[in-house]
Amino acid sequence: MVTRPEALVRFLDAARDVLSARAEEGTPSAAVAARVLDAIGNSVGTIAPGTLDPPPAYRHLASALEHARATTEIASLADAFQELEPELRWRRRAGSETAGAVFHDGHANAEIVGPAGLEQRGDVWFGASLVAPHVRYIDHRHPPEEVYIVMSDGEWYREDRGWHRPGAGNLVHNPPNIVHAMRAGSGALLALWLLWAG
Ligand SMILES: [Fe+2]
Repeated sequence: MVTRPEALVRFLDAARDVLSARAEEGTPSAAVAARVLDAIGNSVGTIAPGTLDPPPAYRHLASALEHARATTEIASLADAFQELEPELRWRRRAGSETAGAVFHDGHANAEIVGPAGLEQRGDVWFGASLVAPHVRYIDHRHPPEEVYIVMSDGEWYREDRGWHRPGAGNLVHNPPNIVHAMRAGSGALLALWLLWAG
């Protein structure tokens, strides 16, 4: 039986606390969170720690986490993520070199649980995105529906709703295949995302 690293256990526990406090029962967010958390509770994937060779936008992580800690609802989750993140592989989005230099060097993603995550498995994708100040993350879409845990200020886009500013500590839900994006204001944007792909 594979054992989860302690820092990952603490992070997943902190995420579970935020999701159960912030996702209202009966909502699509609560349903995605329940599927993801059940799967994570039932089995452990392959543990594959990364090495730290992050893209340039990574330099904004410390300030983003500092701000996250100032929001009570996500302070523990921010601490747990800070402890975990040296084990992650921070990368650019695949193909980002074709989306302009501002985006290419202005974002970084890390998979925590997922096909290329610290914990490798195919049914759950749980990761982090960091966006440098004044950078817009490109439009994207994917078949699994998605919940973001908003860890900073910033704006979120959904093609059927336009832009909105959820505020740190809140959740954002995206139905399957909907076009969505986000953009940072004067501070870096940090978001955690969960997708059920089982
Ligand atoms: Fe997404």
